[in-house]
Amino acid sequence: MFNSKIAGIGSYVPEKAVTNDDLSKVMETSDEWIQERTGIKERRYGEKHKETTATMGTKAARIAIERAGIQPEDVDFIIFATLSPDYYFPGCGVLLQRELGITGTEVGALDIRNQCSGFVYGLSIADQFVKTGMYKNVLLVGAEMHSMGLDYSTQGRNVTVIFGDGAGAVVVQPTEKEGQGILTTKLHSDGTYAEKLAFINPGSHGGYHLDKMGIEYDYGYDKDLEYGGIFITDKMQEEGHLYPNMEGQFVFKLAVRKFPEVIQEALNSAGLQVSDIDMFVPHQANLRISQFVQKILKLNDDQVWNNIQKYGNTTAASVPIALCEAWEAGAVKEGDLVCLAAFGSGFTWGSALIRW
Ligand code: ACO
Repeated sequence: MFNSKIAGIGSYVPEKAVTNDDLSKVMETSDEWIQERTGIKERRYGEKHKETTATMGTKAARIAIERAGIQPEDVDFIIFATLSPDYYFPGCGVLLQRELGITGTEVGALDIRNQCSGFVYGLSIADQFVKTGMYKNVLLVGAEMHSMGLDYSTQGRNVTVIFGDGAGAVVVQPTEKEGQGILTTKLHSDGTYAEKLAFINPGSHGGYHLDKMGIEYDYGYDKDLEYGGIFITDKMQEEGHLYPNMEGQFVFKLAVRKFPEVIQEALNSAGLQVSDIDMFVPHQANLRISQFVQKILKLNDDQVWNNIQKYGNTTAASVPIALCEAWEAGAVKEGDLVCLAAFGSGFTWGSALIRW
């Protein structure tokens, strides 16, 4: 049994920066409100028709592949985490494979839909594949093109101001160096509150879960139609139901509980303590959540990497973008204990401890 390690890391954010003042020109919001509640100053938006979740993921992947000292053809498995895929199906994994020009290699490609915790889940999957000896070069990508699917009217402001576009990627390889690599990963979920942070329509649910949960809705379904007719309706379009929804305070309260819990769980299983952590890279959900967690864990400012101020919440891409930035800045060095943690829609959450 090998340990696995992150052998190469890369990230990509699009050029276009959208400030809070830019958003306040199209919806009722303000720089003051957004910064005070979330810490976000600006976010990046991909270039429509030229950039997609898969193409941004490919850019990050190429950097990670080069830094791992391999060629794209050496990748033997692809894992792609996103909640904003180019197509409803097929997933972005195969599109990335095509963009990388490695379709002839017939590598496996797996798409995972775990939203904000997608990268941590993906890292755990990659770790298991490498540890068992099944694969030697697993390419894990987290990427999002949120800007294409947000509601830019005032109705959508509580969600829209938070999210940004970008991508991060790692190559996971075996290591024989004693004590190095991914020490442990912990993954959890609880579907009780699935609708509290969700992109419900379009979908094939037909109202089932909402009826069961006692949630009122009127999507204009034509119930007399014998076939079809409920995946997407005119009313959804007209009334703005084709966007993500979030009960922000509910999410906040659960996130600040689950982050410390899952970090402590990982530390316990690795026989380590909070004081052993050299760098904590949280999912960039909201600066206030990260600060809350930092306080509970009693970590110093130089032990936590935050960059949500510049990029907003990039969901599955946020952990690898932040980790890459920390590594490039020299804040993550060989031998350091790095802690990753994420919490998001589902709800799903997880953590990883890595001896770099
Ligand atoms: N600009 C101005 N006003 C706004 C905006 C906005 N962008 N969004 C909401 N408001 C208004 C609301 O309409 C409300 O007005 P009202 O009092 O007149 O009704 C008021 O501000 C307060 O709204 P709340 O939703 O209660 O504001 P809150 O202080 O909870 O902040 C926020 C909202 C930032 C979303 C917060 O709840 C939060 O951060 N929650 C955590 C969720 C999170 O981080 N999500 C990230 C994605 S999920 C993930 O990655 C875990």
